[in-house]
Amino acid sequence: MIMRAPPYVARTNRRRLSEQPPLHQTKEKTKKMLPNVVHQLEFNLNDLKFGGDSSDYHVLEESTEHIKDLPGMTCEIGLREGAGTKAILDGLLKRNKRKPHIVIDRYGHLEYQYLQHDLVAYDYSNQMRDRTLLNLFAFTYQMELNVIFFCMDDEEFFKRFADGVPIYDQKKKRIETQYCLVHLDGPHWEELIRAEIEWFNDRMMNGGVIVVDDVNLKDYNKVHDRLIELNFCEIISSPKKKAYQKQ
Ligand SMILES: C[S@@+](CC[C@H](N)C(=O)[O-])C[C@H]1O[C@@H](n2cnc3c(N)ncnc32)[C@H](O)[C@@H]1O
Repeated sequence: MIMRAPPYVARTNRRRLSEQPPLHQTKEKTKKMLPNVVHQLEFNLNDLKFGGDSSDYHVLEESTEHIKDLPGMTCEIGLREGAGTKAILDGLLKRNKRKPHIVIDRYGHLEYQYLQHDLVAYDYSNQMRDRTLLNLFAFTYQMELNVIFFCMDDEEFFKRFADGVPIYDQKKKRIETQYCLVHLDGPHWEELIRAEIEWFNDRMMNGGVIVVDDVNLKDYNKVHDRLIELNFCEIISSPKKKAYQKQ
């Protein structure tokens, strides 16, 4: 039996499609309507700024080689000014892979649980968030990437998206449940990093990679040991970051 959409739906769709101008005309029209700053983002990628507060970003770029043929999303906890996420996106683009990339950061100028007894006030403000997102989304717009930003802390994300993230792309909706590459660069207290590892391990197939930042900090060995227990193997090592692949 052939199912037909109700007449009003068919009419609405027909009208919408016929009214839509081609994409290049839409962009031209938008250009006329928006302030200059938005236009400029379209053109000069070199003007975009992605600050970093760490080093060894090559570990992220190189990690994309290990997961390039795996399904699933890439993810960063702790965006700050974007250098980590940019390194992941550059790695994917270099390998011609366009995977959805999830970014989780709460900003809000909150105190930061750097280590167990080290609660510090950093400049992770909503102003920083907005500046970073302007640059990031100018980049993703130009490169036609699918980056999805969640303005919340890791705990909140884990509660709300335990059963996957809805992805809307290529005229389709799907619920993605798997992560293939994760950069853990939010909280640095080892207990909180270990909680993140447990969560992602349940959502990662063999071959998936977890990169941890600031591996020189106190008690990092507990994070390392847990990854080894979970059958991850260290594949890239540098003074600041290490990458582990699930076996
Ligand atoms: C060290 S910076 C991230 C640096 C960034 N990845 C880079 O490569 O330059 C830490 C970031 O994590 C965020 N953050 C701290 N605790 C968090 C949490 N529990 N959940 C999500 N984000 C958190 C902060 O707002 C801050 O932007």
